[in-house]
Amino acid sequence: MSKIEVKNIYKIFGPHPKKWLKAAQEGMTKEALLAESGHTLGLRDISLSIEEGSIYVIMGLSGSGKSTLIRHFNRLIEPSAGHILVDGVDVVSLNKRDLETFRQKKMSMVFQRFGLFPHRTVLDNAAYGLTVQGVGRAEREKRAREWLDQVGLSGFEQQYPHQLSGGMQQRVGLARALATDAEILLMDEAFSALDPLIRREMQDQLLQLQSKLNKTIVFITHDLDEALRLGNRIAILKDGELVQEGTPEDILLNPANDYVQSFLQDVNRTKVLNATHAVNPARLTLTMRSRPAHSVDRMRALNYEYAPVLDGKRLAGVLTLVAAEQAVREGGRDVSRFVEDLASVPATAGLGEVLAQLVHSDQPVAVTGENDEFLGMLSRKKVVELVTPVLTESAADAAAADAAAADAAAADAAAAAAAVAAEATALAPEPDGRPLEGQPQPAKRGEAA
Ligand SMILES: Nc1ncnc2c1ncn2[C@@H]1O[C@H](COP(=O)(O)OP(=O)(O)O)[C@@H](O)[C@H]1O
Ligand SMILES: [Mg+2]
Repeated sequence: MSKIEVKNIYKIFGPHPKKWLKAAQEGMTKEALLAESGHTLGLRDISLSIEEGSIYVIMGLSGSGKSTLIRHFNRLIEPSAGHILVDGVDVVSLNKRDLETFRQKKMSMVFQRFGLFPHRTVLDNAAYGLTVQGVGRAEREKRAREWLDQVGLSGFEQQYPHQLSGGMQQRVGLARALATDAEILLMDEAFSALDPLIRREMQDQLLQLQSKLNKTIVFITHDLDEALRLGNRIAILKDGELVQEGTPEDILLNPANDYVQSFLQDVNRTKVLNATHAVNPARLTLTMRSRPAHSVDRMRALNYEYAPVLDGKRLAGVLTLVAAEQAVREGGRDVSRFVEDLASVPATAGLGEVLAQLVHSDQPVAVTGENDEFLGMLSRKKVVELVTPVLTESAADAAAADAAAADAAAADAAAAAAAVAAEATALAPEPDGRPLEGQPQPAKRGEAA
């Protein structure tokens, strides 16, 4: 369900935005508008849909309109045209009082420069959003302490911001935003001022918190690595226009133009992308109780050589067509005795790690979630496509020039990718249960691997 709907937003900065709206809508460029009218085109015809419980990243170079866009969400900025619906309510239509409640309860914001009050303690800073909401001291301090604890700042409650490192200060900012219990977090370059190591820690912490909290997070960054790590979807802005919107895979695999491509060049794909990005949802799954004849019929109908077997949501193993046919011949009541082990990788495994596993074995591999639940089958083809950059001509030139300087790890990853690529083409079509030429059978359950 979409939590935030942005519909055809235009924003023109200057004394007479309405007067110039039509020109912008008819396609006048940002430069022409500025030259002719002195008005700045902040945003042009932006439409987005942000799913509840997702992390939505807005990316672009400085000046591309990211902050302008996010400030529309809590109406710190009024659009020149268009609508913003939050839970179906048009925020542009809210009266003053409703807007105030909406800002206090529905959304909270985390800023790039932390935005802490220097003369208030860490505890008071973390409790600030609750103070504004009118929550009593005892209650707000209790909640602020809980959130400070969640972000690893227990024991620092009575310190002042300047006594904390940048990373710690931003954790206070995060605790403050989370303490209000708002459903939506707006994070405008929240991690951009932090050095790389701390920044990565903060990203991990945000992902970890999000797995428990399931907030709707709008996260702004100018860093693609960060965008790809955090985002369920990514919108890329340039000069106030939306140039591309999609999942990390969409962006990596099909950059819309050179602007997007230029962001992609330095991305370490094997680190950024994980097994989740290379899953094929299984079109056929069986259970331990599946009847052998039924299993054989389904696999034959779909032309599959094997099917994953589940126990509830968890992965139990794999049933090959050969084993299922054996089960029929032996008159087994169900397939349970014929289920064999199936290799798996956790969804969070980086593609570098996944690649290493693929090079050493050509068995089918399942992808499993945090509680061992079955998510789908790993697609070798997708792994290869994801780690092999789409080289444009200029990127290819740059890559050639860089090749000499490439570090050993990158070279290894490339070699591994090439090896798997060669194999993937040899083994076409894709697994997902469909036949693979010369596909070895999974090891029998109980046999030494
Ligand atoms: N209050 C304002 N008045 C005039 N121009 C503005 C104002 N705010 C932003 N802009 C312009 O809008 C464009 C987008 O700015 P901004 O949203 O801050 O970009 P970003 O956050 O991506 O760096 C820039 O050209 C900027 O100069
Ligand atoms: Mg900005």
